[in-house]
Amino acid sequence: MRRTIDWTGDAVTIIDQTVLPAEYRVLELRTVGDLVGAIQRLAVRGAPALGAAGALGVVLATRAKGDVEAEARRVAEARPTAVNLSWGVSRALAKLPEGPDAVLAEALAILDEDERINHEASRLAAEVVLAHCGRRPLRLLSHCNAGHLATVAWGSALGVVWHLQTYGLVESVLVDETRPLLQGARLTAWELAEAGVPYRIQPDGAAAAAMSRGLVDCVLVGADRIAANGDVANKIGTYGLAIAAKHHGIPFVVVAPSSTVDTAMPDGAGIVIEERDPDEVLSFGGTLVAPEGAEVFNPAFDVTPHELITAVVTEKGVLRP
Ligand code: MRU
Repeated sequence: MRRTIDWTGDAVTIIDQTVLPAEYRVLELRTVGDLVGAIQRLAVRGAPALGAAGALGVVLATRAKGDVEAEARRVAEARPTAVNLSWGVSRALAKLPEGPDAVLAEALAILDEDERINHEASRLAAEVVLAHCGRRPLRLLSHCNAGHLATVAWGSALGVVWHLQTYGLVESVLVDETRPLLQGARLTAWELAEAGVPYRIQPDGAAAAAMSRGLVDCVLVGADRIAANGDVANKIGTYGLAIAAKHHGIPFVVVAPSSTVDTAMPDGAGIVIEERDPDEVLSFGGTLVAPEGAEVFNPAFDVTPHELITAVVTEKGVLRP
């Protein structure tokens, strides 16, 4: 599969995640404005992919006539929750004194590192899962999309599925559809289908019932920001999954590159949670499905307290509560 986000030599290319799985379309982004728009409408999304987008945003800024630092800030602030976005911007911007070629080299290094790091984090996480569940074909539960499409390549939480699949140890994956934007139903299910992994999509509200019926051996999720104490911000609904998993004694494993760890954030309480457009909740496929003008609570993420998490796994190792 091509990289989710890449550099052609004069433009950023992304796989447009707003139209999958109906359409597989690659977009070329040539300006900071194009990139910020793509980030905000989730054409490119997922914390590690946003890290790459942040760095490439600085590259685009160096090619325009404006104030590079102000443009870089615009990229960093396009979405607030995933720390990887500002991490990618900061890494590329630190090379600005050495000139645009150094900025580009740093951005390309981030792209190259991403697959290797996610491959290693998910390999370690697969060992954690097997240690908890035993070496047998497993029934895994996935939320949102933490796969190839959420990274430059390979994936974090879904990367664990790819490793377990190569060991012949995946029985099936239960895919939370992930309301309201359906990253699970549209993107994770598409990736699993492409890889030939058996899966079933479930409404988010079915997850606790699936656990109570003994259909889930382990929950695997990615992360958008991990605080210093191990609290984890991830797609809305993750917190509820962690509570249900704890109640049923099911391992709950978070997998992310270390660029998602924000050591400056002491705990989850300080993490800014993005609130998105009410229309995402009020309409479905372009049709209004609620009373016109209804008030909406639409946080894109929630924070799972570390005591509910079995392990946070990065490429650097395994953290436990
Ligand atoms: O709003 P999104 O689709 O960008 O949210 C993505 C998630 O919450 C992912 O689980 C997270 O970024 C980890 S992806 C490896």
